[in-house]
Amino acid sequence: MIIRSLDELRQFANQVAAESGPRLLLLLDGAMGAGKTQFTKFFLEAVGSSDTVSPSFAIHNSYATARGDVHHFDLFRLESADDLESTGFWDLFDGEAWVVIEWAEKLDEFGLRDALPRHWPQAHFTFKVLGDGVREISTEA
Ligand SMILES: Nc1ncnc2c1ncn2[C@@H]1O[C@H](COP(=O)(O)OP(=O)(O)O)[C@@H](O)[C@H]1O
Ligand SMILES: [Mg+2]
Repeated sequence: MIIRSLDELRQFANQVAAESGPRLLLLLDGAMGAGKTQFTKFFLEAVGSSDTVSPSFAIHNSYATARGDVHHFDLFRLESADDLESTGFWDLFDGEAWVVIEWAEKLDEFGLRDALPRHWPQAHFTFKVLGDGVREISTEA
């Protein structure tokens, strides 16, 4: 899918939010600056969080929204499986939430992809910069 503007990205995030509920793993990949965080901001707005995504480099930020909790992970600086475990990541799957993961490819790097809960639906989007304001978002199984 080609996204030609921030407004189109917002519409896409609105659609993902409208068509899902708080039991979803959103795996986001793509280079730095491709739009993963921007998508997450629009997604948070769409589900009713007035907070914006922290500009800090925290691995994990949580948001309570009108429709349920959103947990946002940025794994870019993840150095080990233990680092992820200490955030309480695995315990989240005992509950209900949207779990948004930037740099999901890091899960593969640490051999964690297969450990993701099979009873949680996944949506995997890979962002690619095509030009100024223009992005391609591809869906992977
Ligand atoms: N169509 C678009 N989709 C996503 N981001 C866009 C788009 N057009 C411009 N941008 C800008 O590109 C930047 C993407 O940065 P960011 O979301 O932080 O990337 P990432 O988290 O993938 O490293 C933002 O400044 C965003 O406003
Ligand atoms: Mg980012």
